Amino acid sequence: MLKHIAITGLDNEHFDRWLVLWNQTVDAVVPNDAAAQVFREAASRIADSLLTGIKVQRDGLRAVSKKPAAPYASSPIFDQDNLPDALRSHHSTKDGTWGLLRMLEGEVELVFVDPPSSRTVTVDNPAPIPPQALHFVKPDGPMKMQVEFYHNHPLGGDQADN
Ligand code: HEM
Repeated sequence: MLKHIAITGLDNEHFDRWLVLWNQTVDAVVPNDAAAQVFREAASRIADSLLTGIKVQRDGLRAVSKKPAAPYASSPIFDQDNLPDALRSHHSTKDGTWGLLRMLEGEVELVFVDPPSSRTVTVDNPAPIPPQALHFVKPDGPMKMQVEFYHNHPLGGDQADN
């Protein structure tokens, strides 16, 4: 790993080239197709993991974290006075739709019904809402909030529990 981190500019294109050469060599020296495939796949996994390690060493985890997806729709901005009753009582997103509750100001309590759980949603900690999960919102003082809608987990798979 250290030898590779020291090589400035070492990137995907070099590993792709490395794998081409590796596969050519495998084809030349391994007579059995099934065995050759094992060598090809192993090399590809090693290349991925070495390159990921190099990138993370250089730039931290942001180097490999997924870019957040864009919402396909957003609710209006609600405050403590105009928050619709429908959001204050049990409701859910439709099948296949994730919500992301974002606070623009203040905070609210987000309560899930089954299994029962609740969390405080703040400006710094938006809350994903899984498809069809029954929930409701309890404002506690002045706030501004908006719900974004996504086809996939809005914060990416790595943060699926958040
Ligand atoms: C899956 C891909 C690769 C594997 C498994 C691999 C493996 C290794 C290993 C085991 C070493 C010896 C490390 C040590 O002595 O501590 C090494 C060194 C090195 N690798 Fe790689 N490597 C890969 C890709 C690349 C690529 C793409 C480049 C550049 C284009 C590269 C350039 C080097 C260099 C310059 C050294 C140091 C050689 C030396 O100090 O004599 N490697 N590599």
